[in-house]
Amino acid sequence: MASTQAAGQGARVLVASNRGPVSYDVREDGSLHARRGGGGLVSGLSAIGSDADALWVCSALSDGDREAVRRGVGESGVRMLDIAADVHADAYNGIANSVLWFVHHMLYQTPLEPVFDAEFRRQWASYEAYNRAFAEALAHEAADGASVVVQDYHLTLVPGMLRDLRPDLRIGHFSHTPWAPPEYFRMLPDDIAAQVLRGMLGADRLGFLTRRWADAFTACCEAFADGLGNTRIGVHGLGVDADFLRTRAHEADVEERIAGLRDEIGTAPDGTPRRTIVRVDRTELSKNIVRGLLAYRQLLADHPEWRERVVHVAFAYPSRQDLAVYREYTAEVQRVADEINSAFGTPGWTPVVLHVKDDFARSLAAYRLADVALVNPIRDGMNLVAKEIPLLSDGGCALVLSREAGAYEELGEDAVVVNPYDVVGTAGALHEALTMPVGERAERAKRLSAAATALPPTRWFLDQLNALRDG
Ligand code: F6P
Repeated sequence: MASTQAAGQGARVLVASNRGPVSYDVREDGSLHARRGGGGLVSGLSAIGSDADALWVCSALSDGDREAVRRGVGESGVRMLDIAADVHADAYNGIANSVLWFVHHMLYQTPLEPVFDAEFRRQWASYEAYNRAFAEALAHEAADGASVVVQDYHLTLVPGMLRDLRPDLRIGHFSHTPWAPPEYFRMLPDDIAAQVLRGMLGADRLGFLTRRWADAFTACCEAFADGLGNTRIGVHGLGVDADFLRTRAHEADVEERIAGLRDEIGTAPDGTPRRTIVRVDRTELSKNIVRGLLAYRQLLADHPEWRERVVHVAFAYPSRQDLAVYREYTAEVQRVADEINSAFGTPGWTPVVLHVKDDFARSLAAYRLADVALVNPIRDGMNLVAKEIPLLSDGGCALVLSREAGAYEELGEDAVVVNPYDVVGTAGALHEALTMPVGERAERAKRLSAAATALPPTRWFLDQLNALRDG
């Protein structure tokens, strides 16, 4: 099918993702209130400028979003798809978050799960319909020969579907998650695994955050398809925007929160400020917050000299609360933090300062106060927090980093590296980080910051676009 746009019309650069750059709430008086999100893709896309005929295709996620689509309210450069709420819930909660996310992060407790039953098949049909809605919208909106960059596990079938509709387009796909190795990927029913790979291989070029995830994808294609065919693979390790973060982290609201946090952290018996072990996560099952708390408890048990002298500042912001397993995990984080505070706390010392209400300014304040950053995911595509904290910490922090985070490929040499399942080992790493000589800590933080900012979002996005066009 050719483009339905008249010649010369349509977008020349298109991005497709489940979550878009804007969301809407319906206010009590019935008016719509728009909120713009941040993140790497938003700043990446801004790099191509407003005159570039760019379009971001995303899904309506809430009733407010659906209402905005129905009222024809929208931002220029964004097209929100009004996908039926039940179809979206099956595709997003049922398949993307409960199956594909679990497979790529290797999260199943296999004695009882996964179970690929008739209900799974029903949800998979919704996932297909949701991917098709994106493919059709992109086919409709793209100018002749345009470049399309599809994002993530929500939309694995789009490249193949779009290729059939519009063979003239340059199609890319970028994975922000790890990719499962073949032994784990083969848990999916054979026809579903083949369909996912076929969908992805409809792209001209596939991007991954690290060599490890790219190699896992290639290995899956060798095991379960006829190799990569004509699809090229690229590695683009998304970094952070140093100028933006440094400026934002010194604004008045952050200074205010630093004062508040200092009060919560308090001072050691000798009158010096307490040391801080800082972590900030969306509470995803892969982040390993509970084992992080257990490691901290082990540290207090193994090294009583740290009692009253250190505080674990843990911000665990709610994520995907439609899923029971996420709600249970969030509750477990709270329970273990409370347990540590009642076992070790004293009238003047709260060992764990846990906050669960998302507050960007307070996160930046915690970054600035960090002596040690704890980033210990079971498995993570990249983990930008591992890049942000060393960059922003006022004193230059030590980084305790899981070898299973994508960031390990870039930051491993200057981090204290841990096996995320090894709680005793992680406790030892926290002690090592807390006792690292100040000079060494600062030197390492400097090198970590340089690595963290090597590929800022704008360049990360433009590199992919140029590679897609050049291919
Ligand atoms: O944590 C990273 C990530 O999985 C990205 O790959 C993805 O784009 C995003 O989270 C999705 O988050 P949400 O489910 O909140 O839209």
